[in-house]
Amino acid sequence: MMLENINSGYKPVFLILCCIQPPPAKYGGRHTVTLIPGDGIGPELLSHVREVFRFSCVPVDFEVVHVNSALETEDDINNAITAIRRNGVALKGNIETKHTMAPSVKSRNNLLRTSLDLYANVMHCQSLPGVQTRHKNIDIIIIRENTEGEYSSLEHENVPGVVESLKIITRNNSLRIAEYAFKLAREKGRHRVTAVHKANIMKLADGLFLQCCREVAAGYPDITFDSMIVDNTTMQLVSKPQQFDVMVMPNLYGNVVSNVCAGLVGGPGLVPGANYGRDYAVFETATRNTGKSIAGKNIANPTAVLLASCMMLDHLKLYDYANLIRNGVLTTMNETRLHTADLGGQGTTSEVVQSVMKIIQSKGQHTSDI
Ligand code: NAI
Repeated sequence: MMLENINSGYKPVFLILCCIQPPPAKYGGRHTVTLIPGDGIGPELLSHVREVFRFSCVPVDFEVVHVNSALETEDDINNAITAIRRNGVALKGNIETKHTMAPSVKSRNNLLRTSLDLYANVMHCQSLPGVQTRHKNIDIIIIRENTEGEYSSLEHENVPGVVESLKIITRNNSLRIAEYAFKLAREKGRHRVTAVHKANIMKLADGLFLQCCREVAAGYPDITFDSMIVDNTTMQLVSKPQQFDVMVMPNLYGNVVSNVCAGLVGGPGLVPGANYGRDYAVFETATRNTGKSIAGKNIANPTAVLLASCMMLDHLKLYDYANLIRNGVLTTMNETRLHTADLGGQGTTSEVVQSVMKIIQSKGQHTSDI
């Protein structure tokens, strides 16, 4: 049984390349997934995901691993990384990175991504029919290099008052992410890939990234390749976002552009994100905020994390469960009275989750008939 998505206008694409294989199911067809609650709204939203999974009889068992962001030692994050190596897949809330901590304390999120070589961050930014936004008909896939660039954590102050921060761009990783973007574009029937850069200033670093994209593009004559300087890109995005199809870029521009795009379709509470490597996959919200100021108030929008859990189910090839839950989430989004405060409404997190489960129940598939 394949549940059709009844939300016209929203066509979720499976953002997984066929070459990235999920771990095989265990005895009884069940999967074990590492669950990292993270900080802020992460724990409450992930507990809602578990509630929806239980209700829908999804054959996934979670191994919960807590990471304490206040600790300076890396023991916690190393345990989480070991668990992901064991299970192959994780769903996570964002782990806070306090910029007041010692420079030697690296972002736990960054350590996780680099240790597991999750080189491709993928986000599908699409207008949702039930959400009012300034721009309509946005459908952009953003591919962000996830392991190097400005996130090398290599900074020093050898001369007082002079800080050097190293941005690392390598040919291997640039070719790898460009190849990922073009392959995904072809697999999903997309027509255009835009490389975002600042090669007019960083002639060597961004110049190399751009050159690698051009080289890869030559192998995909069916896909139009173009490039755009990052500052113009952000301006074009907020004025005419419909012009973009697939975008590929280094790490920091990827972060900025993802946040702009999430804002364009309604905000951080709506858009899911995924991090893929050759061996592992980690799913989270696209903009990776902790939402600390709204934690514990039952007002956070659970849409992004529920959709991230659907991407995870797609990765595990549990497509029917993914479609069932996604359909519940998207149908709920059409109910303006349930919109949470980020969308201008007064709905609560638990009301949204209850509605999702009610829709799942109305489809009669919360038991074992999938
Ligand atoms: P934030 O967590 O304050 O979120 C930005 C805004 O979005 C806030 O108004 C928040 O309430 C809202 N928001 C986020 N998720 C929402 C949801 N589900 N529903 C409704 N509203 C929602 O963002 P900020 O200040 O950028 O980051 C806070 C922490 O997250 C910091 O520790 C930072 O280091 C970490 N962070 C890490 C990133 C990474 O890639 N490692 C990326 C971004 C933030």
